[in-house]
Amino acid sequence: MSHQVLITGAAGFIGSHLCDRLLLQGNTVLGVDDFSLGTRSNLQEALQHPAFKLLEGDVSDAAWLTQTVQSALNGGTIDQVWHRAANSDISAGVTNPQIDLQRTFLTTHGVLAMMRQLGIGRLAFASTSAIYGLQTSPIREEAGPLFPVSNYGAMKLASEAAISAALESFLERVCIFRFPNVVGPRSTHGAIHDFVAKLRKNPAELEVLGDGNQQKPYLHVQELVEAMLFITQHSSERLNYFNIGPADDGATVRFMAETVVQKSGSGARILYTGGDRGWVGDVPKFYYSVAKLNNLGWRAQMSSSQAIERAVEELLVVNGSR
Ligand SMILES: NC(=O)c1ccc[n+]([C@@H]2O[C@H](COP(=O)([O-])OP(=O)(O)OC[C@H]3O[C@@H](n4cnc5c(N)ncnc54)[C@H](O)[C@@H]3O)[C@@H](O)[C@H]2O)c1
Repeated sequence: MSHQVLITGAAGFIGSHLCDRLLLQGNTVLGVDDFSLGTRSNLQEALQHPAFKLLEGDVSDAAWLTQTVQSALNGGTIDQVWHRAANSDISAGVTNPQIDLQRTFLTTHGVLAMMRQLGIGRLAFASTSAIYGLQTSPIREEAGPLFPVSNYGAMKLASEAAISAALESFLERVCIFRFPNVVGPRSTHGAIHDFVAKLRKNPAELEVLGDGNQQKPYLHVQELVEAMLFITQHSSERLNYFNIGPADDGATVRFMAETVVQKSGSGARILYTGGDRGWVGDVPKFYYSVAKLNNLGWRAQMSSSQAIERAVEELLVVNGSR
């Protein structure tokens, strides 16, 4: 059955892949983005699709969002909001906390206000492993108390709290997805993205932040989109919350750097800046329990290392580096 959906952060890395998949399934998609981080080229396919409409502006401006969505609907309704808009540059938010207040929390506040005004009941929210802070692994969904170590993680946790309160008063059903590190084409940020860009500037040397031993789970964006769709279709609670990730304990930044150097054929020397974390607010090592998602019936096909290898190849091709 086809639906009308709204995606915030539609021009971003994950939002644009989700747009393409939902359009392919026959849905009508309203995409919102202010292009602070996303790009028009990410929406190249969607913009040519007759069932896609782009609304350009700031999601944290609740009055603008409500009015713009209402006019775009022209009397119709939205079956589900996929809220992805956020600041995805974690280190920028450590330097300036205003960034995460505005882009990571107030975007959620704006989306909730719009949903309340327009009587939209279903929300699917992109949360993150960063809400867990420095926990003993493997981290289950019920872990707590939660003390994030980045403003980004703090504002995502605050967003989850605001969504839970909204569910008590006006939302009908919520899916909260806690993502690991997501990799693949169209990424606007992240270690592979940075390594490929650095090598393009200087093919002889690759600087890596930290000692390279940071170890985290990685999921390919195609599998992430599949997992989110699976959860929205198969979960049965009013408040559904899932870690999404591969069933392994991750891959290291060293592996990622060596894969980029090897697949680019550059032979670059890798220089580690040292220390156990890349920047303030980085969680150097964690891994999730994905047992809840596996029990629901979904399992990633690619391991963390396989997801990295595929993403490196895809990004090198897009960047014309091989
Ligand atoms: N990529 C990952 O590894 C990862 C991991 C955990 C969680 N997430 C979450 O997934 C979601 C998507 O992440 P992504 O990797 O695609 O990041 P991204 O930066 O590529 O996409 C975010 C999009 O939101 C837009 N945006 C930001 N502030 C906005 C505002 N005020 N109004 C309108 N649009 C705004 C940006 O322009 C961008 O297009 C985010 O909520 C992010 O926090 C991503």
